[in-house]
Amino acid sequence: MPSTSQTVDLNDVQATVLRPRPSPYCGQYIVLKINDAAQGRAMVGRLIPHVASASRWWEPSYMGWLGIVFTYSGLAALGLPQDSLDSFPDEFKQGMAARANVLHDTGPNAPEHWLTPFGSKDVHVALAIYAKDAPSLEECLSLARTVHEGLPGIEVLYRLNFSELPGGRNPFGYRDGLHNPPIEGTAESASQGPTSAAPQAAAVKEVEPPLKAGEILLGYEDELGKVAQTPVPEALRLNGSFAAIRMYQANVASFRRFLRDNSNSPEEEELLAAKMVGRWRSGAPLVLAPETDNPQLGQDNVANDRFSYSDDERGLLCPAGAHIRRINPRDALKNDIVNVKLHKFIRRGTNFGHPLPEGVFEDDGAERGGVFLLIGTDLGRQFEFVQSQWIANGDFVHLGNEQDPMVGNNGPDAQFTIPKKPLRRRINGVPQFVTLRGGEYCFMPGIKALRWIASLGA
Ligand code: HEM
Repeated sequence: MPSTSQTVDLNDVQATVLRPRPSPYCGQYIVLKINDAAQGRAMVGRLIPHVASASRWWEPSYMGWLGIVFTYSGLAALGLPQDSLDSFPDEFKQGMAARANVLHDTGPNAPEHWLTPFGSKDVHVALAIYAKDAPSLEECLSLARTVHEGLPGIEVLYRLNFSELPGGRNPFGYRDGLHNPPIEGTAESASQGPTSAAPQAAAVKEVEPPLKAGEILLGYEDELGKVAQTPVPEALRLNGSFAAIRMYQANVASFRRFLRDNSNSPEEEELLAAKMVGRWRSGAPLVLAPETDNPQLGQDNVANDRFSYSDDERGLLCPAGAHIRRINPRDALKNDIVNVKLHKFIRRGTNFGHPLPEGVFEDDGAERGGVFLLIGTDLGRQFEFVQSQWIANGDFVHLGNEQDPMVGNNGPDAQFTIPKKPLRRRINGVPQFVTLRGGEYCFMPGIKALRWIASLGA
């Protein structure tokens, strides 16, 4: 029987779901194709001892860890039984590229412009290796190499290195990786934990009640009071999650020109940058630091996440169209029928490439950007809902077809509205600041489920 207990079996959950990335961090994503099912399962079996669990996730991270996910075609290539394959949700079976219209992945973001191999049926397995420094990464990578030694049926299709940018910033200069929802049953022992993330998770709970574990992990009750019965068998689904992976190129020079062209001073540029995201680049949220930045607050990962929009209904402090208020409205939609808890997920992001040097306003053609893993149990009502209704549309906050100013498919007709007294400010012609370079829907099984996969056909 599926467990309805809300105490999560952390030993069986992959670390990537709950463990924050180390700081500093570096790592590599590796995309694999399986040309031989038995060799694919042998590789999974060899990998299992190196796939870290979420056990004591709140303690400072060790040398590094490895996470593994599978696409639908990957599970088929591993020889999963047909009834099991058929039991997966339609979005996952179709894959992200096939969902481009639902997701508004059109124009420059359309799958036909993605990097090879993304969006093709060749993407089967993705590994994420997180490490605290370059020597630790090298050690993890040499381990990873041994797992497909002597298995010619495994092909490496793509690799991407990632690393922390100076100051823990993203390519646009914002501190990132700040907010994630607390999950019921995952931090029970947190108060006994020594330091670091656990007290932080506990503190966040004061303003944000924890999300039911079933929103993030299969096998537990979700916010609708249900325990998922698919995919089958139970051994495959328990402690598993789905992940939407999105790889974005950051168009930093265009962002800098936009700030410069729509401001009269460097201070105004910073305020406009804060209005677009909802946080200053230091990480300080606008509702707590409305007029000037508060870098000390930005550095305090507990205090900078302890806020609500209840005193800012009109968006005079943080615009309703700002990235973080759209994508995680907290209590801003409490008078609407929408239940925001049904549209949350865990976000694990990393940055790649070198920062564009300060003062440069022309694109240098270098690859830089972010890769996001948006993790939950229901791709449709979590990631797809947020992407299509809150990022690519403004109806829910009476902004018509205005999109997210940072991650929307913007262009010559795009607008960004900043509520202001006596008159709102509306900026026309917001360019597209990020371009989707690839994406996949993946399944991230629990650790026992990996053993189940490895043992198929044995
Ligand atoms: C390259 C693309 C993106 C950029 C530049 C970006 C930027 C940011 C920044 C600067 C923050 C505030 C700091 C933090 O909490 O990390 C943030 C928060 C967040 N972003 Fe994004 N983001 C991007 C893509 C996405 C995507 C694709 C999603 C999900 C579909 C997403 C969901 C969120 C969420 C849920 C938060 C936390 C909101 C809160 O603090 O209440 N972001 N993002």
